[in-house]
Amino acid sequence: MDEHKIAIIGGTGDLGFGLALRWAHAGAQVVIGSRDEKKAQDSAERVKEKLCESGSPPERVLVSGLENTQAAAMASIVVLAIPFPGQVTILKSIRGSLKNAVVVDTTVPLAATLGGKPTRLLGVWQGSAAEQARELIPTSTPLLAAFHNLSAEALQDLSAVLDCDILVCGDDQLAKETLFPLVKLIPGLRPLDAGPLEMARIVESMTALLISLNRRYRTHHSGIRITGLRPES
Ligand SMILES: NC(=O)c1ccc[n+]([C@@H]2O[C@H](COP(=O)([O-])OP(=O)(O)OC[C@H]3O[C@@H](n4cnc5c(N)ncnc54)[C@H](OP(=O)(O)O)[C@@H]3O)[C@@H](O)[C@H]2O)c1
Repeated sequence: MDEHKIAIIGGTGDLGFGLALRWAHAGAQVVIGSRDEKKAQDSAERVKEKLCESGSPPERVLVSGLENTQAAAMASIVVLAIPFPGQVTILKSIRGSLKNAVVVDTTVPLAATLGGKPTRLLGVWQGSAAEQARELIPTSTPLLAAFHNLSAEALQDLSAVLDCDILVCGDDQLAKETLFPLVKLIPGLRPLDAGPLEMARIVESMTALLISLNRRYRTHHSGIRITGLRPES
C-alpha cells in the first residue's frame, strides 16, 4: 500500500464523500476536509460506519476529519471537491497550507451552481475551472484535473460496480504518475492521461453532457469509457 495521505477538501459533499468512502475501503489514508471541523469528523464517522457495516475491520479504516486548511497541510494529495462558486475562496484559504502536495481539481463550472441549467457550463475567463485553480496556487504546486465524469452516487453505493475512465489533465508528468495508482485503487476506475491542463475545458464540459444523459435515461450513474487504446493503458 502506498503511503500517500489523501485530503479531500469538501469531503463532506457528494463527490468527496464518495471518493473518501472508496479510498478508505481500499485501505488508503484519507482526511476529510470541511469548513467546519465537526462536520468533517461526522463525515469521517459515517465512512467508518458504512465500511464496518460492509465488513471492513475498524482498524483498517484510516479516515479522519479536519478543517480544510489542516487537512490540506497533512496530505501529499489534496483533492478539491467543492462547487465552482467556492473554488476561489477555498483555494486562497488552503494555498498557504499546501506542503509538497499534488492538488487534484474536480470542479465543473456548472451553470446550476448559480441558478442556471444543470446541462450548461459557465464561462470561465481562464478557459476552465482547472485553469482558474492553476492561477490560485503556487506555481511550484502541481495541479491536475480529474474525476469530473465520475458519478458521486455510484461512488457512495458500495454495492454499485464502477465502470468509468478517469481522464486526468495536467502539465506535470510526475504528478500524474503519483495520482494514477490511487485511481487504480478503486475497482472499476481506469486513469487515462488526457494531456495538458487546457484539456480540462473539454473534460469539464463532458459532465454537462453526462447530466443530460442521466436525465434522459433516468439514472445518476452515467460515466465514460474510451475505446481503442492499447490494452496496457
Ligand atoms: N456530484 C457529482 O456526481 C460530481 C461528479 C463529478 C464532479 N463533480 C464536481 O465535484 C465538485 C463537488 O461536487 P459535489 O456534488 O460533491 O458538491 P456538494 O456536495 O454540493 O458540495 C461539496 C462540499 O463543498 C463545500 N461547499 C459547498 N458550497 C461551498 C462554497 N460556496 N464554498 C466553499 N465550500 C463549499 C461543502 O463542504 P463543507 O460545508 O463541509 O465545507 C460541501 O459539502 C463540484 O465542483 C462538482 O462539479 C461532482
